[in-house]
Amino acid sequence: MNVNLILVVVVFLVSLAVNVLTESADAGDEHELSMASQHDINRYRRMGIRRNRGWDRDRNNRNKQGKKKGNNSKKQRLSPEERIGVANNHVALNVFTSLYPSINSNTIFSPHSLHTALAMTMLGAKKDTKKEFYSSLGFKTAKVGRSEVHGIYNKLLSSLSRQQDVTLYNANSVFVKFGLPLKTNFSRVLTTHYHAKVDNFNMADPEGPERSINAWVAKATRGMISDILKKGDVNINTAMIIMNAVYLKASWADQFEPWNTEPKPFYSLNSGVQTISTMNILTIYNYANHHDTEVIELGFKGSELAMYILLPSANSSLNKLLQEMKARSAVANPMDVLLTGLKSRKLDFFLPKFKIESDVMDLIPALKNLGLKKAFDASQADFKDIANTDKQRLYIDKVVQKAVINVNEFGCEAAAETFVGIMVGSQMFPPPILEVKVDRPFLYIIRSKAQKVVLFMGTFVGV
Ligand SMILES: *[C@@H]1O[C@H](CO)[C@@H](O)[C@H](O)[C@H]1NC(C)=O
Ligand SMILES: *[C@@H]1O[C@H](CO)[C@@H](O)[C@H](O)[C@H]1NC(C)=O
Ligand SMILES: *[C@@H]1O[C@H](CO)[C@@H](O)[C@H](O)[C@H]1NC(C)=O
Repeated sequence: MNVNLILVVVVFLVSLAVNVLTESADAGDEHELSMASQHDINRYRRMGIRRNRGWDRDRNNRNKQGKKKGNNSKKQRLSPEERIGVANNHVALNVFTSLYPSINSNTIFSPHSLHTALAMTMLGAKKDTKKEFYSSLGFKTAKVGRSEVHGIYNKLLSSLSRQQDVTLYNANSVFVKFGLPLKTNFSRVLTTHYHAKVDNFNMADPEGPERSINAWVAKATRGMISDILKKGDVNINTAMIIMNAVYLKASWADQFEPWNTEPKPFYSLNSGVQTISTMNILTIYNYANHHDTEVIELGFKGSELAMYILLPSANSSLNKLLQEMKARSAVANPMDVLLTGLKSRKLDFFLPKFKIESDVMDLIPALKNLGLKKAFDASQADFKDIANTDKQRLYIDKVVQKAVINVNEFGCEAAAETFVGIMVGSQMFPPPILEVKVDRPFLYIIRSKAQKVVLFMGTFVGV
């Protein structure tokens, strides 16, 4: 099998710990637990995020324009799945810029994985906790009705999995402490709408309860991630672990020819000019030049997923691009603005091969910036729709993610065929070939074109 792109793996987990403040017996453990969480939180930078009301304004304007012209064509109305896309984009940009207020390293993050796991968790939330989920997950902004969320998510997951020639595997799993009296509706909706596997597990496992969790993750990610939980992450107070793993393996629609790959200079962010193995292809890509950023769309074979390279011009920078995107989010959806309106153009295109593996990222500080707060507060969280626990209160103790991406050009048999494809697709009077060298730090975004759901995003700044 010719695989020129072996891609990305992500794992996300939410752990709900039992608050034992009301139970005197385990008070010592609780103290240890909160010390650990505080320590984790302190390890990450925080940053204030402006509440994003811009899309409402943007959509209202669009609606007004639509009405003025008496034009209610489908184009102006978002499908339910596209509205999840809007919600996903809201979380993607805010969490990413919160995790990385300024870029100084290679990064990989999966907004889709985070969003899916949080939507599953929202099912069990009530009252103010639920309200916070609803608005911070962008559902309010995207006008997804509260009762619609899980039904639309179910459709989204089904349509995303219907890709030919691409393995897009979305696995959900819920591990529940033996004896926790789960609400029937919670496990029913998880099973029917998220195809989640709900299993009991033993937190007092002498072998270490994290081992079975890590084994599940390794299986779901085809062995690419095997160490998401450390010894001690799961302990006697852990009531439940909600997990989502996304695995994507895809081939470029236009394959790079390995014999064209050569060492080329890359103007890295931190250590000057480096020599990096760089792929090259002459083909037609969808392309746009927006002021200070060039955008190139690399399609995947047999699917409507694509990877977008957002390359800041030599006189700009990656940090400037991200700051502008964040600033623009006050009036529009910057991902959507930058990634639409591309036109096909023949490019002589150079892209470094790269592989990025993130650390295990603690997402709680970023989610707090997004407005999700009560869920993490042992005295305020309300997850009464998860389980009937009278004296104990469930709250979220950990939200972690780890992701891996590996971009290369394996598979050379299709090369000749690809070239024929180029000739057929070319225009009668093509504009001159444009040389695009991705030889400086860039942002990449992998998303579905139909629903505009961002599966993965990250930055490459050098080796
Ligand atoms: C409505 O707008 C769409 C896209 O903006 C356009 O293609 C269509 O022709 C318009 N229809 C009418 C009746 O103006
Ligand atoms: C189960 O949960 C779903 C999603 O929150 C909700 O729409 C539905 O009404 C619930 N059903 C029952 C029987 O509580
Ligand atoms: C940077 O260069 C691009 C062309 O490469 C140009 O369009 C843009 O205006 C320049 N921006 C600044 C701030 O000089």
